[in-house]
Amino acid sequence: MHILLFGASGHVGTGLAQRLSSHHTVTGIVRRRPETQTAYAPVTVPEWVDEPEAVLTALAAANLPSVDAVIAAVGGWYVDEPVLERGLAKFDEDYDSYLRGHFAACHISERLAAERSEPGRSEPGQPGTDHSAAAPSRVVHLALNGVASVEALAGSGAISVFGAAQKMLIEVAAAESSSVDFRELRIMAPVGGDDRNDLTGGVETVALAEVAEAITAILDSPERFDVNTEIHPTASA
Ligand SMILES: NC(=O)c1ccc[n+]([C@@H]2O[C@H](COP(=O)([O-])OP(=O)(O)OC[C@H]3O[C@@H](n4cnc5c(N)ncnc54)[C@H](OP(=O)(O)O)[C@@H]3O)[C@@H](O)[C@H]2O)c1
Repeated sequence: MHILLFGASGHVGTGLAQRLSSHHTVTGIVRRRPETQTAYAPVTVPEWVDEPEAVLTALAAANLPSVDAVIAAVGGWYVDEPVLERGLAKFDEDYDSYLRGHFAACHISERLAAERSEPGRSEPGQPGTDHSAAAPSRVVHLALNGVASVEALAGSGAISVFGAAQKMLIEVAAAESSSVDFRELRIMAPVGGDDRNDLTGGVETVALAEVAEAITAILDSPERFDVNTEIHPTASA
């Protein structure tokens, strides 16, 4: 499977690429060229949120095979002042990083699905090969979300606001799309290894390996999953 990963430079994206790249081809869309070697093949598109078409152009220029699946691990995590005290500028910034990024990623998935179903499309390295009959034209789009999307997390207010809106964005996209299987994986605890999380008081985490396993299951057979799937720490699942 050729997986396009948004948020590849982040904590979850980096860990996912390490786990998924042994079985799949992983291309990471990044805003800045990575300084060290990565488990994903980086394609640098500095303004991909504002210019989603630039992603399609960059993929074509890189001569990569059709994208089968998209993972959007965009956004992040913070604990800060109450949302109203952080002010409008930071609220707008969070909107940019969360909801707007997810919207752009969804749009790109739609465009990739349209490209896949173009009659006579040839795969790189196989000029003239018509895959329109053989290759499935659907793309799976999997957006990651967190517990903050369903619980008001004091100190991470904007994440809750935009996470809740993201849930609905994916549901609307799933209801409207005829070419993309839109799914969301909601990780109901901090992801292991992220030292920004405050784990005092025995807070349980979800291991990156479990996130990767859940993602693989959804990407392999999206029809077996509802639009929203939750994973919890193993001990409390
Ligand atoms: N970490 C956790 O404990 C946790 C728990 C539950 C769910 N999740 C989910 O996992 C996903 C990723 O979280 P994370 O912890 O990996 O976040 P992260 O380490 O902060 O990484 C965020 C990623 O999003 C990209 N990004 C942020 N703002 C952007 C913008 N304005 N435009 C384009 N790209 C932008 C970053 O790219 P740049 O490097 O270019 O800035 C980076 O790749 C989120 O969907 C989150 O809901 C995480």
